[in-house]
Amino acid sequence: MIIAVDGPAASGKGTLSRRLAERLGLAYLDTGSLYRATAARVLRAGDDPHDPGAAAGAAASLTERDLDAPELREEAVSNAASVVAAIPEVRSALLEYQRAYAESPPPGKGGAVLDGRDIGTVVLPGADRKIFVTASLEERARRRHRELQARGVPSIEERVLQEMQERDARDRERSVAPLAVAADAFLLDTTELDADAAFEAALAFVLSSTARSPERSTKKR
Ligand code: CDP
Repeated sequence: MIIAVDGPAASGKGTLSRRLAERLGLAYLDTGSLYRATAARVLRAGDDPHDPGAAAGAAASLTERDLDAPELREEAVSNAASVVAAIPEVRSALLEYQRAYAESPPPGKGGAVLDGRDIGTVVLPGADRKIFVTASLEERARRRHRELQARGVPSIEERVLQEMQERDARDRERSVAPLAVAADAFLLDTTELDADAAFEAALAFVLSSTARSPERSTKKR
């Protein structure tokens, strides 16, 4: 079972994906952490995230340790992540790792949940289930602001909203693998849903027989 979860920043896709994976005995890969780790490496080296050579070099040399770097959730890294993510050489350097993870998840797992921006459209177009998680910009900014405050990071809500808007625009408008809803994705708007309600809705979709494409479910019957 391979589940692709996509959506904009702070839509709740990380929490949702982690819970789905746990409930269904699947492995979980947060693909945003690959772009964040790439950006963190570039910033640490004092390079410019817009520089394709530096960014692609950082992506190609990522290690497991980079994925646990403490600064990955910092706003500077978030913003630089969406800059390096628009560079085609960075995306191609990270593509095989993501596909290999889905095809051969860690031992004992019956499949994988991957979350990101282009999982259902580019990385795993043949995924068994695709979910596109969204929420209004205002609600997403509120969530991210609260999340930062809870971590003791000083934050101004309007500034979070503005940076999120800029990052969303970069993710949607880039020419390579832009954030987009796959034609066969289940659209889950969490603006008015808490984490439990979003999880229940997504789980019901994943477990429903109609979630399969029409020809596959006809063949089954
Ligand atoms: O947690 P949040 O949604 O804020 O961000 P994330 O999922 O960790 O992703 C950080 C950045 O990486 C995004 O703004 C995208 O530019 C990029 N990204 C991407 O391009 N493709 C993916 N599959 C995942 C993330």
